[in-house]
This record gives sequence, structure tokens and C-alpha cells, in this order.
Amino acid sequence: MTLLIRVSKQLQRKSLQNPLLYRLLSESSALRKGPESKEECKWLHGSSQEILSVVRGHVEVRQNFISEEEENALFKEVETGLRKKRYEFDHWDDAIHGYRETERLQWGVTCESVLRRVRAVAFPEGSPLLGPIHVLDLDKEGYIKPHIDSVKFCGSTIAGLSLLSDSVMRLVPENKSTDWVDLLLSRRSLYILRDEARFKFTHEILKDEESFFSGQKVPRHRRISVICRNLPV
Ligand code: OGA
Ligand code: MN
Repeated sequence: MTLLIRVSKQLQRKSLQNPLLYRLLSESSALRKGPESKEECKWLHGSSQEILSVVRGHVEVRQNFISEEEENALFKEVETGLRKKRYEFDHWDDAIHGYRETERLQWGVTCESVLRRVRAVAFPEGSPLLGPIHVLDLDKEGYIKPHIDSVKFCGSTIAGLSLLSDSVMRLVPENKSTDWVDLLLSRRSLYILRDEARFKFTHEILKDEESFFSGQKVPRHRRISVICRNLPV
């Protein structure tokens, strides 16, 4: 499983006469476009404007996607499968260091409703999904090295919930390793990687010592991710 490892002018003119519509339009375009956008600055930071414009629209972080109660419910359910495993530290060739993992197909009511929300926002309607949900438990000392999830087993979209800890996910273009894009994955957020960001960039989760977002330390504690993927077409 480790290796399973995207208004018209008339409307705009009209909107100027309608303050509410104008505000709605300018807010939604700010969300999509701007490094100027305050919302985006909270979770997206990169080495240049150019690289940000490459990933924009292909990466998304929704902060506070789940409530504390939902986080607890997910934690309880995944703990049972994780408990039986030992953290793996020593495999030099592993993409992940200091982790244990499990998969889960059947979920209780609360978790299932969270997962239904994830599917609804992350995947195109009707897109066939990988059945089991991947659960990855990173020890405080654990981290994920740069990799691209298998194109053989996984499709265009990867969506993950972060439990227990904030973390930083770094994307690096495969063909230009001096560029980078950092995503702040706050605790209880949902991130989505699509298309370009999923196929043309490696992704990694930074280790505690290197865990900074826009110059600010992001302490990395134990972190559990609950990851949904679709199938290749
Ligand atoms: C993976 C991976 C990211 C995460 O398991 O392939 O990149 O959020 N996980 O744990
Ligand atoms: Mn991955």
C-alpha cells in the first residue's frame, strides 16, 4: 500500500451594479487566483509565483474540514487496526520512515459520513475509487520522502485528512528540483492533489527538524492521515 504510493464581461458589468454579487465574484476569483488571496496564503507558499501558478487549481487545503468529534471518531476507529502493528524505521529503501499503516473498508456512521463529504468535494462524480481507505500513522520522528504515488494503482486525485498534528507537505517539480511548493496541512484539514500536482510533482511530509511553513516552525507530532484515492482510468 505504501507504493500506492483540475463570467462573462456582461455578468461582471452587471455585478458592479450589484454590490453583493460583486463581492461574491471578487471573493471567489481571489480564492482561485491570488497569492494576494489571504485565504490561500494561510496554506500555500512557494519558491516563485510561476511555480504557484502551475499548481494553482491542482492543490487545495480545506482547513478545519472535520470537527474535533469527527477527528476523535476517526482516531478511535483506526487505532484498532494500527495498534497491532509496529512502527517501521529501518527500511532504507522505504519511501516512508517511522510509520505504520493499515487499510479500512468498513466504517462506523460518523466516519462514513466524513468520508462521504471527502468523496463529494475531492473526486469527480462517478469516478471509481479505490475501495479500502489507506491509513498512515507517522511517528513524531517519522517522515515521508519525496515520491509520486503509483500511476499503475492510483488515479488522478489523492485526498487526505490529517489527524493529531499539523504538518508541511512539500511538492517539487520532477523536472526542476530547485522549485518547491509547501502546503500547510493543519490538524483536521483535508488536502487534495490533482492531475499536474499529483503526476508531475513529488510530494513529501517534512520531518520535525525541517518542518517550517513560510519561515514559521510547524511542530510535527505523531500524525495520522486517512487517504482516499481514485482508480486509474
Ligand atoms: C502516501 C502519502 C501522504 C499523507 O502514503 O503515499 O504520500 O498525507 N501520504 O500521509
Ligand atoms: Mn504519496
